[in-house]
Amino acid sequence: MRKPFVAGNWKMHGSKAFVLNLVTGLNSKSGELKGVDVAICPPSLYIDYTLRSLSTDTISIGAQNMAEEPHQGAFTGEGSASMLKDLGCRYVILGHSERRAIYGETNAEVANKVRVALEAGITPILCVGETLQERESGVMESVISEQLDAVLSLVGIAAFKAVVIAYEPVWAIGTGVTASPAQAQDVHAFIRAKLAQLDAVVAENIIIQYGGSVKPGNAKELFGQPDIDGGLIGGASLDADDFIAICKAAEV
Ligand code: PGA
Repeated sequence: MRKPFVAGNWKMHGSKAFVLNLVTGLNSKSGELKGVDVAICPPSLYIDYTLRSLSTDTISIGAQNMAEEPHQGAFTGEGSASMLKDLGCRYVILGHSERRAIYGETNAEVANKVRVALEAGITPILCVGETLQERESGVMESVISEQLDAVLSLVGIAAFKAVVIAYEPVWAIGTGVTASPAQAQDVHAFIRAKLAQLDAVVAENIIIQYGGSVKPGNAKELFGQPDIDGGLIGGASLDADDFIAICKAAEV
């Protein structure tokens, strides 16, 4: 039985005052969380402040990105996996479509980052997903397969025991358009079946989150699908009440 996992991706939002207000709201409601793993992923600059503001251990912390380079050194502006670990991060979002589209991250770079995160003892939340054009032109499955294959060929299927996958259709991110539960389920089942060809046990146990315009009003139906094990939440994770409501919708 997979324990659902909901993570909040704050993206580049916030200020110290905003973080304090949001985390205070999460602290006061965290006692309501049962049967679901929960993480929040603030901007790196606020990770330490967020951790110091959190008064509950039912909510873990993740980062939104990290350097591909595992070692300290002359890499101006970068932050390493071991630094995130040192700060107290348990997760790191990797290969988010915004990083792929805006910063040109390739499948090979994402795969390398997954390897480096795993070596540092951080659980990667590996994002995959197709654009609307890829979906409409019938290459959705091959796009997602290539995104997964790059990582699988580098770290191997056994390493996926410690990986979370987030299926995020690019056309549903921040647009208010959500994949229908059936559309999302189809892709989640495809991903699980692909992994099952390599290792049935890993495939059965891996958490596959859905991300893309999840809100309190649509979360329950999405999370009720057999292969959807929680969500990666952008906009709605910036509001404590909405985020907690979404987490509770994933509870088993
Ligand atoms: P959204 O973002 O919930 O605002 O659509 C999801 C994500 O990008 O992880």
